[in-house]
Amino acid sequence: QHITIHAPATVANMVCGFDVLGFAVHEPYDVMDIRFSDRPGITIINKDDYCLPTDPEKNVAGAALLAMLEEIKEPLGFELGICKQIKPGSGVGSSAASAAGAVVAANRLLNDRFPKQDLVRFAMNGEKVASGVKHADNIAPCIYGGVTLIRSIHPLDIVPLQAPPLYVTIVHPQIEVRTADARGILKQQVQLKDAIRQWGNIAGLVAGLLKSDYDLIGRSLEDVLIEPVRSILIPGFDTIKQESKEAGALGGGISGSGPSIFMLSKDETTARTVEQQMQQTYQRLGLDHHTYVTTI
Ligand code: HSE
Repeated sequence: QHITIHAPATVANMVCGFDVLGFAVHEPYDVMDIRFSDRPGITIINKDDYCLPTDPEKNVAGAALLAMLEEIKEPLGFELGICKQIKPGSGVGSSAASAAGAVVAANRLLNDRFPKQDLVRFAMNGEKVASGVKHADNIAPCIYGGVTLIRSIHPLDIVPLQAPPLYVTIVHPQIEVRTADARGILKQQVQLKDAIRQWGNIAGLVAGLLKSDYDLIGRSLEDVLIEPVRSILIPGFDTIKQESKEAGALGGGISGSGPSIFMLSKDETTARTVEQQMQQTYQRLGLDHHTYVTTI
């Protein structure tokens, strides 16, 4: 038996919800296939040009599968093929897609032995390999789809959120930002007045999604804690954001730990106008970039 799955890209943080909010998009996605192997343990076959490690302990998908195997306690072997289409280091959950996709595919092979929450727990071991931190705001939406709230990771408490139709425009300036570095520069203390503003925005965003209130969603897409620090790693960030909003986007910000920037729009026409605006902005600034439009 042989299972093939698509593991989608994800946008973590959703601007104000650092480590607690994230959403999956329909494109791009990694293609992964898995089968049982006679050799116990994990065999990884790379089917792309990224030359990622094939040692399961150093590979994010391998680490996720090893965590799963540890709980199965049977001498099973998996052969996993990975064809990545989500560029590593681009800020749209490439490592999460590998880790989540691997355990979702293996679980299908095991006749859905584990519930989704366990799959998130296994896949978080992959994030640990990638960035040193077991955050779930890419993994959870990758596995559940749509927008998810990670209310807590100890214990794991994942809340899938309803959302109205939303179009996503993403621009990837052709630089790489390592999540570990983007976390390393963050301040460890925050001011109470900033915290109040931030949790007002998170609550507003969640309420806006549940009520399909686009204006409230737009107003709440503000981050006073993380973005001011991280945006310095992303050339042209402020200009892209401002000009995208002028082009009609509801709002947006850094995708995960960057360098990609995402903008949300109510309809496809606006999302395409925002895409053109982003291209013009980066052309003007002389920066290589790649853009795409997708949906949540
Ligand atoms: N919440 C994580 C961060 C997501 O911003 O560091 C990384 O993709």
